Amino acid sequence: MDQITFYTGLSPTEFFTILTIMVFVYRTVSAMFVSPEDYNKPPVVSLKTNIRFDDPKPTPEPVQLGQITEPELRPYNGSDPSKPILMAIKGQIYDVSTARNFYGPGSPYAMFTGKECSRALALLSFKPEDINGNLEDLDEPELAVLEDWEYKFMEKYPKVGQLVPEKRIQQNEHKEEIEDNLNLDEGKD
Ligand code: HEM
Repeated sequence: MDQITFYTGLSPTEFFTILTIMVFVYRTVSAMFVSPEDYNKPPVVSLKTNIRFDDPKPTPEPVQLGQITEPELRPYNGSDPSKPILMAIKGQIYDVSTARNFYGPGSPYAMFTGKECSRALALLSFKPEDINGNLEDLDEPELAVLEDWEYKFMEKYPKVGQLVPEKRIQQNEHKEEIEDNLNLDEGKD
């Protein structure tokens, strides 16, 4: 203690007070700078904060469904997490599973999922009665709005199928049945 006073001319209390202030100032100022080695490293997130940057469930690869009917499209509305989320525009079915923030359950545009929503997009309407593919009474500007949506979806989401009226599928099945029967008959000759 005597040496502190001898060398610094300060009392031990003054010496330790000044030392504490200097350490505090040094640590505060040095905390404002990043060392050159750490400059390009990603920020470290403490485990205590519980933040997850990785998606716990990565979106599965889109599956091609071919031609399906509107009732067959319905279950792809995000309610079953094992199924992709789909919506149709002008008869083309898009897999929008990558945008759960827009289309997942409870999200702002969930009402369009599992449905043909061309009319609603053309009219910029959320009314349930507009969520269908009826374009009959739409005017040119409304059809142009729909076309913009269509381009957006074509660019952003994979196409996974086409909507067909139920009748056409039945007709096709019937046609295949007839062709099978014809082939069988030909085989007999
Ligand atoms: C109050 C009016 C509205 C506001 C402020 C709004 C805002 C937004 C915003 C900020 C986005 C994200 C855009 C992006 O990521 O590029 C978005 C996306 C979208 N909006 Fe709206 N919107 C409105 C009305 C509507 C209406 C009336 C419809 C159709 C009926 C609609 C359909 C959509 C759809 C389908 C998407 C998702 C597009 C995608 O999958 O990328 N929005 N909206």
